[in-house]
Amino acid sequence: MDLILGIDVGASGVKGALVDVQSGRLQGERYRVPTPQPATPQALSAAFAEVVAFFDYRGPVGCGFPAIVKDGVAHSAANIDAGWIGDNVESRFSQACGAPVYATNDADAAGMAEMRYGAGRGEQGLVILITIGTGLGSALFYRGMLVPNTELGHLLWKKNKPAEAFCSSAARERAKISRAAWAKRFNDYLHHLERLFSPDLFILGGGESKYFDQYAQYLTPRARVVPAQLLNNAGIIGAAAYAAEQANGL
Ligand code: BGC
Repeated sequence: MDLILGIDVGASGVKGALVDVQSGRLQGERYRVPTPQPATPQALSAAFAEVVAFFDYRGPVGCGFPAIVKDGVAHSAANIDAGWIGDNVESRFSQACGAPVYATNDADAAGMAEMRYGAGRGEQGLVILITIGTGLGSALFYRGMLVPNTELGHLLWKKNKPAEAFCSSAARERAKISRAAWAKRFNDYLHHLERLFSPDLFILGGGESKYFDQYAQYLTPRARVVPAQLLNNAGIIGAAAYAAEQANGL
């Protein structure tokens, strides 16, 4: 069995688990520490190292990171400290935890996990996964191939603000609206994405995926809409799968 440590760095928590990258299943318990506020490079590296240290593990560590990540470097910082912009996530986290770290965008990681082991398995058309949490993350696949760093949560929506400012779970909590009222907004967002990309399937992930049954009735795009099967563990699982691939030079 190939066990790899996957860590999902989120705006509110840093969560890790050992993942069997053959089956995509978690092995043993998850460990979570709250994301330090502000989530500066230094503070977040300490939290990352704390999660790694919890596991009796030696080997490559996969990291889903909540920003644009190109060649290990962060290029945005919507829900983390702006000090991350231009910083190398992989070398900073590697230094902090003493193991090689492979970092990719968190929603791309969740998408890879769903395509490989979950709701997107065998899907050959155009698939869009949206993670709904503090921000809105996206992963876009065509014939199983990822187009990385799509950032569809940052489409400008109203008042020159990004869609995530209105359609994330954090936005729902800020506006103190019901899940039904939020779902109507979110449905507009899905229709907008459908006008742009004509997907065959939407997969909804992130913390909000576990309440899918409460709002599915409000979602009316032509494309199928399904919840992520790996629920909120998709980011951890995809991060581990990404590290396994990168460490083997695939
Ligand atoms: C970030 C994305 C991230 C998403 C979910 C957004 O604010 O820009 O990179 O995937 O939040 O964490």
